[in-house]
Amino acid sequence: KKPDPCSIVIFGVTGDLAHRLVVPSLYNLAANDLLPDNFCIVGIARKAMSNEELTDSLTKGLHQFATRKVDDALARRLLACVTCIEADPKDPASFDAMREQLDRLEAARKTGGNRLFYLATPPDAFLPISKELGRTGMLTENGAWRRLVVEKPFGTDLASAEALNSELLKLVDEHQIYRIDHYLGKETVQNILVLRFANGMFEPIWNRNHIDHIQITVDEKLGVGHRGSFYDATGALRDMVPNHLFQLLSLVAMEPPAKFNAHAVRSEKAEVLAAIQTQSEEEALRNSVRGQYRAGKVGDTEIDDYRKTENVNPGSTTETYAALKLTIDNWRWAGVPFYLRTGKALGIKRTEIAIKFKQAPFAMFRDTPVERLSQNFLIISTEPTEGIALQFNTKVPGPAIDIDGVEMKFRYKDYFQAEPSTGYETLIYDCMIGDNILFQRADGVEAGWQAVQPFLDAWKKAGGKGLKVYEPGSEGPEEASELLERDGRNWRKLT
Ligand code: BG6
Repeated sequence: KKPDPCSIVIFGVTGDLAHRLVVPSLYNLAANDLLPDNFCIVGIARKAMSNEELTDSLTKGLHQFATRKVDDALARRLLACVTCIEADPKDPASFDAMREQLDRLEAARKTGGNRLFYLATPPDAFLPISKELGRTGMLTENGAWRRLVVEKPFGTDLASAEALNSELLKLVDEHQIYRIDHYLGKETVQNILVLRFANGMFEPIWNRNHIDHIQITVDEKLGVGHRGSFYDATGALRDMVPNHLFQLLSLVAMEPPAKFNAHAVRSEKAEVLAAIQTQSEEEALRNSVRGQYRAGKVGDTEIDDYRKTENVNPGSTTETYAALKLTIDNWRWAGVPFYLRTGKALGIKRTEIAIKFKQAPFAMFRDTPVERLSQNFLIISTEPTEGIALQFNTKVPGPAIDIDGVEMKFRYKDYFQAEPSTGYETLIYDCMIGDNILFQRADGVEAGWQAVQPFLDAWKKAGGKGLKVYEPGSEGPEEASELLERDGRNWRKLT
């Protein structure tokens, strides 16, 4: 289905996000004939730039970041409509002028006034821009739709996220806001709901009676690189947990929604996040590990000591690794721990949810040492392989009953030849057709911050005390293993 005629108005059009993800995604949509027939791209820059200059810059970006071979004719057709408008929220008159320019442009392009305002800007610009859009009436839906797309980070703690939501909701309705979490653009992440709710065999065992615990791992090989000033003020917890890891957690732990629509799905996701037990600061310290990497190597790549990274405070106590133990206070999950970990400069890029089922009673196979028996894990992974695997025990061929662990694997690439993509195509397309299902709702964002707030507070108070160091290329600080060992458990080893 083609979206309604519309324009996409990109704030921060000269920046990395617009060049690296937004325009290459629009190109992929155009290549699949999924853009509206009447469509235009408007770039908003704080400093004047000609249409030609902006088009050239976006074309260069497209060639650099495209996920498929660029067809020059198609790229020209797509970018022929690029218009650059100069506007700065510090200069209200520029927004009044922008409004007129947009009206004229859209009349010529016959887009019907439908507009997607994409804020590809640093987060401190979200509100000033939205206020100006509100003041000039550009967010009012008067026959035509008006939508606002914002990127993470959405707030830096519970209070700031609540404040941002409440300010934005004075300007627009919730249905007009599209809060992007790029993890929801990943096929395997979207597939979690299909796995759980389009198959009859998983749901009956998807609860505390059969599941021992759940592990969510998002390990990265890259260090902080050039993002020092952003990262040092943010840290691994804020950067990854309330957003990406909680998207994974909520999809795996939510109750079945009554319908597959944005309202029902997002309500269940918010509900399960709100059921994460709020820990006291002492509990938060006991149930978490934070680490910071030192100098070393990941494979052949040299990694600097985190504290020597450009724009990082040399005495920084910001964590580049975080591991947490959480519990969910509801009937399905009472007593089932959720262990989460994420970090930079680790040995392997790995994103997975590992669901550990309770062990069978061993009575019949008493002679097999417990360590020989495979642990029953169902693994949903996006890195290093996109797919699903099931670990179970099997009989080794031969006269004796000898048991060993094996793995049954489904890999996406064995079944489906997906076109390489940026991961943003579905998200941008959904913004255009008005489907909010893959976007975060205000209550979900706030429930996420609520659950991590005790960790933020406890770590802030503790400062450098309790911050562990780890070697690049490792699995993170050793204390993260102890977090599970003290419960008689282990992180899943890669097989
Ligand atoms: C971003 C974080 O949101 O997600 C980065 O700011 C992180 O620090 C990235 O590297 C991870 O995304 P992915 O898709 O590579 O797992």
